Amino acid sequence: MKSPVSDYLREVLDDLADDADGAVADYIPELMNADPDVFGIALTTVDGRTHSVGNDEVEFSIQSISKPFAYAAALTDRGFDSVADAVGVEPSGEAFNELSLEGDSRRPKNAMINAGAITTHSLLGSDTEQRVERALAFFSTLAGRRLVVSESVCRSELDTADRNLAIAHMLRNYGILEEEAHAVVEGYTKQCSVNVTARDLSVMGATLANAGVHPVSKERVLSRAVARQTLSVMASSGMYDAAGHWLTAVGIPAKSGVSGGLLGALPGQAGVGVFSPRLDSHGNSVRGVKVFERLSDDMGLHLM
Ligand code: DON
Repeated sequence: MKSPVSDYLREVLDDLADDADGAVADYIPELMNADPDVFGIALTTVDGRTHSVGNDEVEFSIQSISKPFAYAAALTDRGFDSVADAVGVEPSGEAFNELSLEGDSRRPKNAMINAGAITTHSLLGSDTEQRVERALAFFSTLAGRRLVVSESVCRSELDTADRNLAIAHMLRNYGILEEEAHAVVEGYTKQCSVNVTARDLSVMGATLANAGVHPVSKERVLSRAVARQTLSVMASSGMYDAAGHWLTAVGIPAKSGVSGGLLGALPGQAGVGVFSPRLDSHGNSVRGVKVFERLSDDMGLHLM
């Protein structure tokens, strides 16, 4: 949609277009094939209008941005108490792929780090197929179109998944995971390999921003309480060990993914999706972070 908002987004995109800081992720071999220069920004308001610029329709794997949505699905399916038995709500202050378990309970500290997300994924069904279908169906409802798993990304990540397998084995050892580690990591990896665009992310984020009501279909897809819980955990832990800086500097609940996606959801206002594959040392998109710093400053989108 051509509008003053898209003119503004175009200005931000143009200003940051030449920023080549950071590097594409390399621990999942397939992600190294990403075009590092691709750059798209999309913003969907809670009344369902999407404004987007640049490579807003280029598909990429959702990666860790699947985590808040899988958490929301687990809360919906299992209830708050049962999810809280398995995963906490404290920021870990550590990298996304650290084990970061709580002292007594051995729960992963939160659902945004890999340990917590592997655990929340395990709550989505009783076998791999069921869990993946639950995640895919739910993400598709949120995006407003049928999404698919990128088989090449999934295969590439599974071939090199030793670290997540190690985490899953530890979780099973502590009684947090009931099912066999390989089966859970396979499903979790598929969940991370679902392809989305910056536009999809903005619509998905706008559903959280709109307290669980889809901004386009107007269907309630999450309870208000689940949307609130998910946004809260995004605010405290969505940017991993950069979460504190993010909250002070940007002030928008957000989640990043290692393929270069970044999703923000500002309660009552909008969902924002950015795609730019070069990452900083925390695994967050360099230009994505800068887009949000600009939006927060220029449009007063900081929560505080
Ligand atoms: O489990 C992993 O390592 C990836 N599938 C997801 C990690 C990720 O996206 C980290 N975020 N920036």
